[in-house]
Amino acid sequence: MNNRMLPNQFLDDLRQLEKIYLAQSDPIRQSGFYGGEKRWQTERKIIINALDKDGDFLDIGCANGYLLKCLVSWATEQNLKIDPYGIDIGPGLIGLAKDRFPDIRDHFWVADAWEWAPPRKFDYVYALADNVPPAFLSDYLLRLLRQYVSPEGLLIIGAYGSTSKNQPAQNAANALIEAGLRVDGQACCVELPVTHIAWTRNSDE
Ligand SMILES: C[S@@+](CC[C@H](N)C(=O)[O-])C[C@H]1O[C@@H](n2cnc3c(N)ncnc32)[C@H](O)[C@@H]1O
Repeated sequence: MNNRMLPNQFLDDLRQLEKIYLAQSDPIRQSGFYGGEKRWQTERKIIINALDKDGDFLDIGCANGYLLKCLVSWATEQNLKIDPYGIDIGPGLIGLAKDRFPDIRDHFWVADAWEWAPPRKFDYVYALADNVPPAFLSDYLLRLLRQYVSPEGLLIIGAYGSTSKNQPAQNAANALIEAGLRVDGQACCVELPVTHIAWTRNSDE
C-alpha cells in the first residue's frame, strides 16, 4: 500500500492525455506517438532487446494496446512468444486495447499503476519513467519489482525523448541506479537516442 497519493494535477494531466489520444484514429497516434510507422518501429522495437525467453509481458500504460500488438509480432520474428497484458489509467484506451485483443479481453485492466495491486506476477513488466512524477520514481520502481515481476523476471524501464524536438531520452539506467537497483542490460536507439530502455532482473527471491 502507498502512503502517498499521486498529485491531482498529475492525474488531471493523464485524463487530458487520454482525451488527446482518443481524438486520433491512427493507432500509433492513439499511443501518443506522432512520428509515423517507420520511426515507431525504430524507436519502439528496441524493447525486444530485453527479451531472452518466452513469457507474459505486462505493458504499464498500454494505451490502446498497439505497442503490445507490435511487440507480439516483433518477438515472433525472434522466435519468442509473449503473452500480452496491459493496464492503463484511461478506460476508453483500455476499451480499445480489449477490442484489439478480443480473445484475451481479461488481460487488460483500468488501473493507476501507482495504486494497483496486481492479481498475479509477470515475466516481463514494461513501465515508463514518466508513469509517475520524478519524486515518486524510485519508490515506484521498487514496488513494481517487488509486486509485479515474477521471480527471475525482468522489470524494463523505458524513457522517450523526441526526434522532432531533437531531444534525447532521459537515461533509463540511471532511474534504476537511483532506486538502488542493479542494471542488468540496456538498449538505446542508434541514430538519435530518443528511446532508452534499461532492465533489472528480479533475482532476490
Ligand atoms: C505514451 S503512452 C505509452 C503507450 C505505449 N505503452 C508505448 O510505450 O508506446 C503513455 C500511456 O501511459 C498511461 N499512463 C501514464 N501513467 C500511468 C499510470 N500511473 N498508471 C496507468 N497508466 C498510466 C497513459 O494513460 C498513456 O496511455
